[in-house]
Amino acid sequence: MTRLRWPFSRLILRHSLRQMNTEMSKRGALIVFEGCDRCGKTTQCKKLVEVLENEKEDVQFLRFPDRTTVIGKMINAYLNGSSELDDHVIHLLFSANRWEAAKNMKKLLQGGTTLIVDRYAYSGVAFTAAKAGFEVDWCKQPDVGLPKPDLVIYLTLNQQEAARRGGFGTERYEQAEFQKKVAENFETIREKDWKVIDADKSIEDLHAEIKSLVKKTMNDVHWEEIRTLWT
Ligand SMILES: Nc1ncnc2c1ncn2[C@@H]1O[C@H](COP(=O)(O)OP(=O)(O)O)[C@@H](O)[C@H]1O
Ligand SMILES: [Mg+2]
Repeated sequence: MTRLRWPFSRLILRHSLRQMNTEMSKRGALIVFEGCDRCGKTTQCKKLVEVLENEKEDVQFLRFPDRTTVIGKMINAYLNGSSELDDHVIHLLFSANRWEAAKNMKKLLQGGTTLIVDRYAYSGVAFTAAKAGFEVDWCKQPDVGLPKPDLVIYLTLNQQEAARRGGFGTERYEQAEFQKKVAENFETIREKDWKVIDADKSIEDLHAEIKSLVKKTMNDVHWEEIRTLWT
């Protein structure tokens, strides 16, 4: 066997160590917040990100729909009523809006960033399936294969408290009857491992409860593969 001269062997060693290092680096967790309107998803996501950042954790906030992309702008126009779209088309656009983020999400997760996500594919299904003529199973199909959340925090809130937190906005879907159907659909698609939390408590108490669940998940998934949704 020919022995490699030291500069080469050192290079190879350095290369394989670097390779091992990237392959073995801890990944971040995919944390998703779901729940009805005004239950406090955005409030909790932002607070969580702020607190974790202060603790020097590697975290990033994402929200769906992401209204900044070309597809997101079409969704935005639909939601604020300035454009009309076929119900199938808007469903697929919401899904496409997640798919256009998926590659970067995976990259961030693999690189160790924990993602705190305000709404995801479950909202996509719950909303479209609340429309006449749409089955849950059809609604799920476009999102099959997206990165699967490591933790879904599902916030629930009674009608009275939701009403006290402010009236409905002016966007499409912001009507009591429609929201009731959305809530029923969340119950249908909810999976066993979702953390269901009654959001009728102070922002601080809710945050404390959520933070401990999130920290645990962040630790648990370090060496786990990213799973895929609905496969
Ligand atoms: N735990 C809470 N108690 C009382 N009011 C809250 C609480 N969390 C959020 N809010 C208020 O309720 C409203 C809806 O909160 P938001 O986070 O936007 O809900 P979502 O994103 O789920 O629609 C906001 O005005 C917010 O300040
Ligand atoms: Mg919100």
